[in-house]
Amino acid sequence: MSRVAVVTGGTRGIGQAICLALKAQGRTVVANYAGNEEKAHAFTAETGIPTYRFDVGDHEATIKGCAQIAAEVGEIDIVVNNAGITRDGVLHKMSFDDWNEVMRINLGGCFNMAKATFPGMRERGWGRIVNIGSINGQAGQYGQVNYAAAKSGIHGFTKALAQEGAKYGVTVNAIAPGYIDTDMVAAVPAPVLEKIVAKIPVGRLGHAEEIARGVAFLTADEGGFVTGSTMSLNGGQHMY
Ligand code: CAA
Repeated sequence: MSRVAVVTGGTRGIGQAICLALKAQGRTVVANYAGNEEKAHAFTAETGIPTYRFDVGDHEATIKGCAQIAAEVGEIDIVVNNAGITRDGVLHKMSFDDWNEVMRINLGGCFNMAKATFPGMRERGWGRIVNIGSINGQAGQYGQVNYAAAKSGIHGFTKALAQEGAKYGVTVNAIAPGYIDTDMVAAVPAPVLEKIVAKIPVGRLGHAEEIARGVAFLTADEGGFVTGSTMSLNGGQHMY
């Protein structure tokens, strides 16, 4: 039986590439999305992958949404926490709302999805969770105290939950992407982005498919010995 994989923020950007990579791996894939209905319909029409709309930052909505997926598609064995937003700005100009929304969605989303799916994975003795962190959660980034804190939190969350899942066959890993050619990175002012790209040793932005390959590796049936790890996919921009 094909295992069910849910990718949050799965209809665009990195999430879309992850959905396609998991489908190619033979998984039954479901994409979650929060707002862009038109894009979600186009995504389903193009890929045949069903979409479920709920805000991963909303605890109740996430529990309900995952229960609906389990009832309509099947028990969820693979979760990719990819949904994320930016509200960039230097601290002295950042509002509490900019802080809170990024924490609620980027970090809270991982907790809410895990609460909805980890107990079932644990009971069934198999599961794969991949959390999409960021180079900016590892190294920090000017103008991103909210995003860097949330992504850094994701890396800690991953290592803690990996310890809880290990003896139940549930692996929990993170990927820390560098700058990838998505809408999120395109929103960085051009002169700022130019300076960032100049510091990437491979000399270019990454592609969403290059992150999706990592997710396919970490969620593979053969991946049972990889847990609590962070895979840095950043073109050499941050090495440690
Ligand atoms: N280090 C030190 N100083 C910096 C700096 C840096 N990295 N970046 C900017 N500054 C300085 C500028 O030189 C400028 O100094 P002066 O006033 O002395 O000239 C000052 O900070 C203000 O810079 P801005 O004009 O850019 O200020 P702003 O308020 O208009 O914008 C900002 C601030 C919103 C943070 C803007 O700089 C920005 O968007 N930066 C990019 C942030 C970024 O990389 N976001 C990543 C988004 S993609 C993503 O997050 C995906 C992922 O996981 C990788």
